[in-house]
Amino acid sequence: MSDIARLWPHPDTAPLDDEALTELYAHRTEPDLRVNFVTSVDGAVELEGFSEGLSGGSDGPDKRVFGLLRMLCDALVVGAGTLRHEGYRALRLDQRRRAWRMARGLSEYPTLVVVSGALELNPAQAAFADAPVRPIVVTHGRAPADRRALLEPVADVLAVGDDGVDLSTALARLRERGLAHLLSEGGPHLFGALLAEDLVDDVCLTISPLVTGPGAGRIVAGAPTPPKNFTLRHTLIADGALLTRYGLDR
Ligand SMILES: NC(=O)c1ccc[n+]([C@@H]2O[C@H](COP(=O)([O-])OP(=O)(O)OC[C@H]3O[C@@H](n4cnc5c(N)ncnc54)[C@H](OP(=O)(O)O)[C@@H]3O)[C@@H](O)[C@H]2O)c1
Repeated sequence: MSDIARLWPHPDTAPLDDEALTELYAHRTEPDLRVNFVTSVDGAVELEGFSEGLSGGSDGPDKRVFGLLRMLCDALVVGAGTLRHEGYRALRLDQRRRAWRMARGLSEYPTLVVVSGALELNPAQAAFADAPVRPIVVTHGRAPADRRALLEPVADVLAVGDDGVDLSTALARLRERGLAHLLSEGGPHLFGALLAEDLVDDVCLTISPLVTGPGAGRIVAGAPTPPKNFTLRHTLIADGALLTRYGLDR
């Protein structure tokens, strides 16, 4: 496991233990929505099609924080493109993380929430078929009824919005179910749509020490949105990667 140290504020070369990292990434407002991405130095969202190549392996610092953020959230919200493309499996946590959650009155596992307009989702994908908690699919009123019927045995399907997903209402519906702290692992189109509706409170971004060259997209995609000032909360360093957290002062 990689050592992670604090660069800012209060630089300290001592490795941060899990408790210190948990404190640094604790959710500060209720409810909130946090977005987590990894990028290259030159801003690529993928390497050879996937985020894996940017993360630096399963023992790397990005994956350590990635797992920690999943432990801290009530629900993990992901776009259908990322779920399909990255082949999401069931959202499971190890015993230590499940115990941490239950000791704090959280559910044993976070709930997976998938955002999709077209509902081109495979109910046999392990993210649905093997889920420890029944996932939620967020769609809209004109989503194809036949695809909706295929998903209903494995997920709660919420239609919010008449002919496009109304993300603001969708988040309110999730919060009514007690899902206050939301983590989104993207992808770029979902991040763009969340930004457009001013729904993002927190951005966790790992910058990997890789320059990948032209070709890949950025961590955000879709229609242009006005710039927003986020405040840097911390910067950590490990294996040459920078692990940053930015928050919106509302
Ligand atoms: N570097 C990283 O940290 C990271 C993280 C995530 C993903 N990625 C990469 O990003 C790429 C995928 O990008 P992407 O933009 O396709 O991902 P995405 O945003 O997860 O997927 C887009 C799809 O999600 C659904 N969706 C997103 N926003 C929606 C909205 N507001 N309303 C209704 N549906 C919505 C739609 O699905 P339907 O087509 O079903 O309607 C849409 O086609 C992959 O290469 C992946 O590896 C990288």
